[in-house]
Amino acid sequence: MRAMVTVVRATQLELNTAVQALRDGELVAFPTETVYGLGAHAGHPGALRRVFELKGRPASHPLIVHLDSPRFLTRWAREVPVAAERLAERFWPGPLTLVLPRTPQVHPLITGGQDTVAVRVPSHPMAQQLLTAFGGGIAAPSANRYGRVSPTRADHVREEFGNAVHTILDGGECKVGLESTIVACVGGQVRLLRPGAISLSQLRRVVPEVRSDGIAGEATPRVPGSTHAHYAPLTPLAIVPADEIEELADTLSEGGQRIAVLAQRPPLGTYQSVTWINAGPRVDAYAHDFYANLRTLDKAGCTRILVQAVPADERWDAVRDRLRRAAAASAAPIPVDDDNSIAAGILP
Ligand code: TXA
Ligand code: MG
Repeated sequence: MRAMVTVVRATQLELNTAVQALRDGELVAFPTETVYGLGAHAGHPGALRRVFELKGRPASHPLIVHLDSPRFLTRWAREVPVAAERLAERFWPGPLTLVLPRTPQVHPLITGGQDTVAVRVPSHPMAQQLLTAFGGGIAAPSANRYGRVSPTRADHVREEFGNAVHTILDGGECKVGLESTIVACVGGQVRLLRPGAISLSQLRRVVPEVRSDGIAGEATPRVPGSTHAHYAPLTPLAIVPADEIEELADTLSEGGQRIAVLAQRPPLGTYQSVTWINAGPRVDAYAHDFYANLRTLDKAGCTRILVQAVPADERWDAVRDRLRRAAAASAAPIPVDDDNSIAAGILP
């Protein structure tokens, strides 16, 4: 029997509960500045197995080890290339994950059997508190079911897992709102594997040779989720150019279908069956609210989510990446006829 969910604000007593739970091999969800993590004692195989079970995540998908500072990094990484040192120095604590050659002690459940390990030092004060009190590595994927929308509030974690998680530390809304930037420093190369709040040019200001050809998932280190069914709401999602979204929403909603829209401006008119969220033009605010907005629209009882295409510039890379994956995971593309106008009324 698992205990009921304890909502922990980080009083000392409650921190103790979380730390004891981790030591006992139980799972503790905790806030980070990016998204909430589903934490397990990184040296406890039973706890690691529970993470995969609970998420429904294939064992081949590796986990990130969270540390309170780089001081014990060499327990996890057998080699810390100069590039990694520089990036860590500049961006830790913060939304950066480094993939490094692992030490023999790192459990294969963490690495997915690979010779590398992903490590990150989060900046969220409650994550820091927990990690310091625990005194070791906490392996933590995002606290959502496999392939689903990441949680940015404690309530989202409760929605995902209910009582199955021993303890949920509530640290409020995650500041960044998207998962960390992942950079692999392996085999003499530095590769961006997942775009996040730290942009490619920010990385390159510190390490000019960062390559960006790892994102598609072709690189040696695996980043599962680079293609299908990731970050996806249950409602089919499509990305639509800004100047087509009103007409499309209007056309699709004819006949009573409810349509959800995630845009960056208010609607130009009023529409009967359109649920419209204006996430605004600023990337930080957009990212902060992104997963919460997807959850809201997913629950709005709509047949489709239309997302206004985001700007092409680099600051939007992480958002664009998550949108692309969410759209790729959607089963049904929007049917259009030959001259690219919408064939109305034939959607499921
Ligand atoms: O912001 C974040 O990174 C959040 C918070 C909780 O820290 N965590 C997170 O974890 O996003 P998760 O499990 O949802 O995503 C971790 C990503 C996966 O795409 C995984 O494949 C990749 O990190 N990864 C982990 N270990 C790796 C390795 N050794 N080589 C390449 N990619 C790795
Ligand atoms: Mg995830």
